[in-house]
Amino acid sequence: MDQYAVVGNPIAHSKSPSIHAYFAQQTGQHLMYSTLLGDLVEFENQVRDFFEKDGKGLNITVPFKERAFAMCDILSQRAKQAGAVNTLMIGKNGDLFGDNTDGVGMVRDITHNHGQSFKDRSVLILGAGGAVRGVLEPILAENPESVTIANRTVEKAQALADQFDCLASSFEALEGPFDIIINGTSASLSGSLPPLKDELVNGQTWCYDMMYSKERTVFLQWAHEHGAVGADGLGMLVCQAAEAFYLWRQVRPETASLVDSMRKQME
Ligand code: ATR
Repeated sequence: MDQYAVVGNPIAHSKSPSIHAYFAQQTGQHLMYSTLLGDLVEFENQVRDFFEKDGKGLNITVPFKERAFAMCDILSQRAKQAGAVNTLMIGKNGDLFGDNTDGVGMVRDITHNHGQSFKDRSVLILGAGGAVRGVLEPILAENPESVTIANRTVEKAQALADQFDCLASSFEALEGPFDIIINGTSASLSGSLPPLKDELVNGQTWCYDMMYSKERTVFLQWAHEHGAVGADGLGMLVCQAAEAFYLWRQVRPETASLVDSMRKQME
């Protein structure tokens, strides 16, 4: 049976094996998907070894996405733009091919599962780290009216804005309201929030947190208190996996029902 795995460190709590098992069952594909604890020294050798043993595909997670990027022979355009790889496979000539499905997964979650459109809308993105870099190109491909990147360290926002041809700002200098606000800071992890002015959001604003949790995230709580609705990033996790599955198997799984059942399991 075709073998797939996710490599990360830590990896024990990864939801990827159960997500891919669900996709395989739903689409009638026969495959095995397991976890592989990445070694901080031997990561590259582990990847080579997996493919030498006829493994078909790997997902790569924290902290190896940049190292996976560095070892690829061929990169997709979106992986090049992201500077990171979350999906590996062997190409036609035996080359190691790397892709990044995080950004397209997020955009697909927002547009397909939440019915939002980016077209001609003003988009504010909070944060300027690796997670934000990975989603910029797929957002821009949806033809928004504008994309503004706001970050605590403004220079990092400016560097991304220069590269992707969008706008940069400090949190303090932002002027709203925006149609869509996406939180890509890691502040949520510690339960904190950047200093966001009330005027950034109103009842028409739609908010998305790239993080997800059982309880409403602090960012979505802020949105809620200002009369806005939105969603967390559980669907992004499922949709980036679906994009990898599609790359490997040329079959696109349906994602909304899995997001629903994972949400219920978290309750
Ligand atoms: P990731 O891979 O998750 O994007 P990262 O590259 O370390 O992680 O980026 C983290 C992002 O969260 C950065 O934009 C960071 O802001 P700085 O560039 O100023 O460091 C942002 N961030 C983290 N904690 C934050 C906080 N408490 N308030 C505001 N922004 C925060």
